[in-house]
This record gives sequence, structure tokens and C-alpha cells, in this order.
Amino acid sequence: MQSIHQPLVIGNWKMNPLTAREAKNIISAYKTVAKKYTSVAVVAAVPHIYIAECSKASIRGLVALGVQNMHHEPSGAYTGEISAPMCLEYGVSHVILGHSERRKAGETDIQVSEKVSAAIKNRVTPIVCVGESERDVQAAFYPYVAAQVLSALSKLPKARVKDVVIAYEPVWAIGTGVTPTLDEVREMRLFIYKILAETYGLAAAKSTRVIYGGSVNPGNAKILFTETQMNGFLVGGASLRAADFSQIVAAVAK
Ligand code: PGA
Repeated sequence: MQSIHQPLVIGNWKMNPLTAREAKNIISAYKTVAKKYTSVAVVAAVPHIYIAECSKASIRGLVALGVQNMHHEPSGAYTGEISAPMCLEYGVSHVILGHSERRKAGETDIQVSEKVSAAIKNRVTPIVCVGESERDVQAAFYPYVAAQVLSALSKLPKARVKDVVIAYEPVWAIGTGVTPTLDEVREMRLFIYKILAETYGLAAAKSTRVIYGGSVNPGNAKILFTETQMNGFLVGGASLRAADFSQIVAAVAK
């Protein structure tokens, strides 16, 4: 498991690219950047169909391989799903869970918590996405995010909370080019820390990584990283553009 002191940058490829050949090219670019900035943990969260191709590109140790969803059961009659043991076979070490695009399609807090628990049991690092769809003046988005965090972690033994990565992704910032202010991101980082400390103790709060996602690009990565105490980024759109992704990784490198 990585330490909180090592910045983490995850490329969420979503349902891209269209061909295995392109996937291979993107992975090669990730390898180059990971080799250059060894102080950063780089993860490629690829569509399931490219797992084998990307795994073959011998990225283990250099670029960690991730997926964007998995079922909580190890096997069985679950059409269209894949499980943690299947992923492990191909060296998948990370899984994005509860992404807002999946929640929008019907994924519930309970399902997310079951998946988080299954991932941890299988030693796959869950990247749990939380975030409000809008900011209201009464600040009800704070308890909303707290509830998402606590629900996602609810099936874990306390000692394993630190093995989860929480990705704060305000839904309104995803793919829109709009980002929260630095103060807003910093405040949410502190708020999540406080929730973790109150519920699981100071040690857990101190060692659980929280990363930011939502319209991260080469232009805002450096300041978002240095000014908000976030431990890294979950990158969507820019993760498919080698030059952009490389600059984002460079921005968090020591
Ligand atoms: P974006 O996506 O970087 O394109 O905003 C982030 C995400 O959906 O994880």
C-alpha cells in the first residue's frame, strides 16, 4: 500500500479510447512519465476490455493498473460484471468506486460500501468518489459528502480505513472546465479529515489519502496541489492526452 506522503495521480479513462492500439500508446506515455517522476504514484484506470493489453505492456511496478468498477461478489450469475479476483489475475491494484457517472446510472451508497469492502478484502485499493452535485448556500453539501464518506467506509474494520483513497469530485466540476476555488477545495479536504478523525481516530485520518477530481488540467494542477493539502488527483479528460497528463504528474512531483 502506498503512503500518504507519495502524491497519487489516477487517470480515469472512462469509456475511452476506441482501440486497443490507442490504449497501448497511452499506457506507453504513462510509463514514460512514471519513469521520469518516480516520486509520484501513477495509476491508469482503464476500461475492462483493455486490462489484458495494458497489463501486458508490463506496467507493474511503474504504472499501477486500475479499473473503474467491479462487483462485490467474487464470481457468480452477475451478467456483465467483473470481480476483484479476476482483476488480481491481471495485476489490477486499484478500482474507482462510486464515480458520480455510475451513481447517476443507479449505483447506491450500499452497493458502493459492499464494493469497497470486497476490494479491501482482495487487497485492491478502492478509490471512493464522493461529491455534491451542487453547492447550496445553507452548505447542506457538507453533511451530504460526510454521509457518502461514512457510508462507503461503513463495512470496513477501522484498521483498514487508511487503505482507502477518497476522491472528492464535486459533480459540477467534472468535465465542465469549472473548478471550485482553492479555499473550497482546502475546506473540503479539512472537512473530510475531521470526519475521519471523529469516526476512526486521528491516526486513521492522518494516513488516509484524499485526492481531488474535476477538471484538473496542466494549468491548475500545481496550485490545486500546493494550496489545498490534497494528496493527488483523479483526472478524467486530461488523462487521455499524454502531454497534459504528464504535466499534471510533473505538477505534483517532488
Ligand atoms: P474530468 O473528470 O477531469 O474530465 O473533469 C474527472 C472524473 O470524472 O474523474
